[in-house]
Amino acid sequence: MVSEFIIKDEDLARIKDKVVLVTGGSSGIGLATVELLVSLGARVAMGDRNPLPASLDSAGVFYQQLDVTSWESLLSIFKNVHEKWGRVDHVFANAGLSLTSTFFDDEVDSDGNLTPPNFRTVNVNLLGVISTVRLAAHYIKKHGDGGSVVLTASGSSFQEFPVPDYTTAKHGVLGFQRSIIPHLKPFNIRVNSIAPSWTATGLVPEELRVALGDMMQGPEVVARSTANLMADSSRDGQLIYSWQGRHMEIERAEGGLLDHVRKLLGVEIGGTDGEKLEAALKGSIPGVPVAPHARIG
Ligand SMILES: NC(=O)c1ccc[n+]([C@@H]2O[C@H](COP(=O)([O-])OP(=O)(O)OC[C@H]3O[C@@H](n4cnc5c(N)ncnc54)[C@H](O)[C@@H]3O)[C@@H](O)[C@H]2O)c1
Repeated sequence: MVSEFIIKDEDLARIKDKVVLVTGGSSGIGLATVELLVSLGARVAMGDRNPLPASLDSAGVFYQQLDVTSWESLLSIFKNVHEKWGRVDHVFANAGLSLTSTFFDDEVDSDGNLTPPNFRTVNVNLLGVISTVRLAAHYIKKHGDGGSVVLTASGSSFQEFPVPDYTTAKHGVLGFQRSIIPHLKPFNIRVNSIAPSWTATGLVPEELRVALGDMMQGPEVVARSTANLMADSSRDGQLIYSWQGRHMEIERAEGGLLDHVRKLLGVEIGGTDGEKLEAALKGSIPGVPVAPHARIG
């Protein structure tokens, strides 16, 4: 059953000496994660569009200015980290923005025509994550020891949440994770996500923080779930929801999100669509020949 768990310090010890690259580490959840990883003895690289915060001045962090919407910018930090430490073990694809558009404003251009949708948040929160993970897989594969990527999803990845560009991107992050697991497994690269509930960071305006009061948690709570996903090699395809200082794995656990879907689409319907695809590819659907060119990847 889905149940809460405690992350002990000894659960995080395996992160010592690992090379970890964090995006969006100049504030909030990323910054708290960088601080935790440094305290655990990891070699930490951090990229953000904002400068390295003064609190990290003497922490030995490799910093490079980064815009996750630019392939060249991402490529450059991965290349430099690899050159510096000769490897990349874990990557935290975390940089993110809050709402920049509902998609339903009536803004028009100088000819009076409706302007195209603003994809800024989708570009950072979803496409930036995909680009980061593409590079992460490439560099982790190089040493053959495996590793992991942790994606910053959100409570809005699986709930109704009336913030269109943000919620669309965060659903996309979870969808991305669900689709890439078998593509990274052969290289022993695990993929997991964090789903923080309301967390006191630069992303949440002050008046909202005040209104939410006790429902807010500190970013150091979320940092522990991130480090746990990197350190615990049994975690793959998981999603850790953190709220008010507590943690729960809600994706693969019995009674979790995937379990609910499996029950919803149960035996009468013939299983989930992924299971049907798998059966079709194996030629194990009675009376249905396997499609000659059907394969994944
Ligand atoms: N705070 C919450 O309640 C909450 C809840 C769920 C998920 N999240 C997610 O956590 C992640 C971190 O956000 P946070 O809450 O710590 O907010 P934050 O604003 O404190 O930190 C976000 C960081 O990302 C950086 N960033 C933004 N765009 C960038 C870009 N194009 N390239 C490089 N860096 C960029 C910012 O400069 C900043 O340092 C985000 O993905 C956010 O969606 C936050």
